[in-house]
Amino acid sequence: MAKSTTKAKPQAAPSVAERLLAWYDVHARVLPWRSRPGAFADPYAVWLSEIMLQQTTVAAVGPYFRKFLTRWPNVGALAAAPVDDVMREWAGLGYYSRARNLHACAIAVANDHGGVFPDTEEGLRRLPGIGPYTAAAIAAIAFGRRATVVDGNVERVVSRLFRIETPLPASKPEIRAKANTLTPDLRAGDFAQAMMDLGATICTPKRPSCNRCPVSELCDAHAAGVEETLPRRGAKKERPVRRGACFFLTRADGAVLLRKRPAKGLLGGMMEVPTTEWNGAELDKAALLAQAPAKLSWRRVPGLVEHTFTHFHLQLAVFTAEATAKAAKDVDGIWVGVDELSGEALPSLMRKVVDHAMPDLGPLFGRKA
Ligand code: ADE
Repeated sequence: MAKSTTKAKPQAAPSVAERLLAWYDVHARVLPWRSRPGAFADPYAVWLSEIMLQQTTVAAVGPYFRKFLTRWPNVGALAAAPVDDVMREWAGLGYYSRARNLHACAIAVANDHGGVFPDTEEGLRRLPGIGPYTAAAIAAIAFGRRATVVDGNVERVVSRLFRIETPLPASKPEIRAKANTLTPDLRAGDFAQAMMDLGATICTPKRPSCNRCPVSELCDAHAAGVEETLPRRGAKKERPVRRGACFFLTRADGAVLLRKRPAKGLLGGMMEVPTTEWNGAELDKAALLAQAPAKLSWRRVPGLVEHTFTHFHLQLAVFTAEATAKAAKDVDGIWVGVDELSGEALPSLMRKVVDHAMPDLGPLFGRKA
């Protein structure tokens, strides 16, 4: 009888997606907006978290996400809230146009979609404040659609896996195309979040932990020993410095004068301690005081408040004064008791100004300038 040889079928090596999903099943970070691996999360929670996570760290978002979800547990509740309440809850998280768009989006979903989020990338992209990244993230994570989600972490992971030497941002189209080749048909949401977690915990910008990486064997940059040099970046532009002043005006009863900023523009719709224009000129007391809300004997608080925005660095001098009864009546703005300041929609910059102007209170907002 002829001997039969049973040859073992050659097994395909596990793909990046298979390895990453197996790793994610064990190592997924537990985050408040996430479902267990393999299950879809609530679209409202996914949308809210993804908007908050744009340009903002997971650690900073956690408490805001919980506050929002407790106060407005579904999209209808958020749509019904006054926009000023939403801005107030958002205060401190930055990039305030996100909050305004968040509210507009909630209204659109409540009014035009019966309170149900569209479940495709195209449908989601038609909503206010939802761009390509967010649409892909919600479609994949909340609805299990095959969508490729590329954030900063994913850019780093993909640049290294494929050893992309072209600097960012020119490499973005190539990164997206390569990322798309990795995205599995099933569990695209878990895959996206696995890539994010890998980037956040293992494939870190400095000193990546390749010895713990589930895909290091498939990583071209690791094979060549160049992982830490990627992704390359074009030369960063220096941020220009702008300067100005804030006027911290108190009334006899201790209330403080605040103003609402115009809806459009930087810190749009947020509250402020009245401030001058911000420009490149050196600080000049007379020029600054000409922009004060009232002619009073203003005193300069020593030091500066400094804050970095995306496109410039800001230095603010702070002046204080007590309003005369007449000035208290005549000035534009609203008077807010010191105890109520922390409930106002004051962005981080203005919280620093308050802390700088009132050192005796201790840091009201607990933030260092
Ligand atoms: N950053 C943006 N979206 C995220 C998510 N879903 N999980 C972790 N980090 C994120």
